[in-house]
Amino acid sequence: MNVSVIGTGYVGLVVGTCLAETGNSVCCADIDAVKIENLKKNILPIYEPGLEPLVERNQKEERLRFTTDLRDAVESAEVLFIAVGTPPGEDGSADLKYVIEVAELVGQHMSKEMVIVTKSTVPVGSSVKVKAAIAKEAKFPFHICSNPEFLKEGTAVEDFMRPDRVILGIESAHARRVMTDLYAPFVRTGKPVILMDVASAEMTKYAANGMLATRISFMNEVANLCDELGANVDLVRKGIGSDARIGPAFLFPGPGYGGSCFPKDVKALVRTAYEHGIPLEVLSAVDAANERQKRVLGVKFKHAIGPELEGKRIAIWGLAFKAGTDDMREAASLTLIESLLEQGVSVCAHDPAAMDQARAILGDRIEYADTNYEALEGAEALIVVTDWNAYRNPDFARIKKALHQPVIIDGRNLYDPEKMRDLGIRYYSIGRPMLAPTD
Ligand SMILES: NC(=O)c1ccc[n+]([C@@H]2O[C@H](COP(=O)([O-])OP(=O)(O)OC[C@H]3O[C@@H](n4cnc5c(N)ncnc54)[C@H](O)[C@@H]3O)[C@@H](O)[C@H]2O)c1
Repeated sequence: MNVSVIGTGYVGLVVGTCLAETGNSVCCADIDAVKIENLKKNILPIYEPGLEPLVERNQKEERLRFTTDLRDAVESAEVLFIAVGTPPGEDGSADLKYVIEVAELVGQHMSKEMVIVTKSTVPVGSSVKVKAAIAKEAKFPFHICSNPEFLKEGTAVEDFMRPDRVILGIESAHARRVMTDLYAPFVRTGKPVILMDVASAEMTKYAANGMLATRISFMNEVANLCDELGANVDLVRKGIGSDARIGPAFLFPGPGYGGSCFPKDVKALVRTAYEHGIPLEVLSAVDAANERQKRVLGVKFKHAIGPELEGKRIAIWGLAFKAGTDDMREAASLTLIESLLEQGVSVCAHDPAAMDQARAILGDRIEYADTNYEALEGAEALIVVTDWNAYRNPDFARIKKALHQPVIIDGRNLYDPEKMRDLGIRYYSIGRPMLAPTD
């Protein structure tokens, strides 16, 4: 099938590449000329494990091409995915500007009957606007499909290749046929393709992210209470996660969720609901709890080091909003770093993938270390923000020797409190009792 994907970011690049991998002829288009030139040379704009070899192979075998010529991408497509960003507007609503721009362009340049798929996360009812924007100048019949994406950065290729389910919001038999054919190779193990109306598909994406964000904020609040009461959130998590009605996933407390989806999608759904006079009080609280949670590591740091922070230096391991990605959007590390800088603390940070992205945001206001151990030099204490595998089993003797004070503040509960106590490290984690070192 001739497929075009407009917007070659985290989602568009993965979608286009994986569709090429299953034999389709895919054109990925973007307005960012540098990104496209690099992609032509197999230089990826994002860090996403497993993606680079697929891009390279599919380009070599001529199933995947990259262009800035959006008109060409539209003209050649039987199926066109809109995968541009939908950033939050001032009031929290999702900004549809880029989606509508693309829809208008599709209407102007379509050369045959097409299926136009909204992959971007768009508020319920957006398909009506997308359809109207296409229809303004369309000279051929077209079919709208809402196909929300559930991939996770860091495992995006695997998630797209082996989805838990595929959601298709469709309005015509033609769209159903084309889309179920396109997805057939990805659901051979029997995972469901769930067909529904377009509004329900749009809502499904927001409801899924709202539910996941709720679990995270809920567990963060439970962890904070565990901290106060001397309970251990690890045990509580296991205790509730083994209940089949609850399940074990997404129950890990941390420094607050970030990334390009949860924060923005939660706010956008709250906004949509507000506009319709249906307050989403649970989700509003989830959002507020997350904002609070992003400050927890800073509070623990102050508690550990004392109120006089001015002039102190701190090592930070992990900048990306989660492991496996270089994405810094809404990362908890940013809230922490801003608050440390405000208090006169200097920061030396390390991240295996997100240093360039961090530099683009923070510039030279912090230092960047080549290795995680280098970041410790001259530092008062270590704060672990992102759960990269490389941080899971470090050389604790080396950490202790490098730090002015043997203090680790762990935002991801990576280490064993008893082991830390035995090593003489003052160890603060999220929702687990601190065990005072004996030596
Ligand atoms: N990142 C995720 O994990 C994820 C997961 C599921 C859904 N989504 C949703 O998918 C959408 C895209 O997210 P992303 O993270 O890939 O965004 P991104 O910012 O990484 O990529 C968007 C791309 O669109 C391009 N673009 C913008 N306007 C354009 C235009 N008019 N024509 C062509 N290209 C244009 C940009 O240059 C950029 O390369 C968003 O709606 C997001 O909410 C994201």
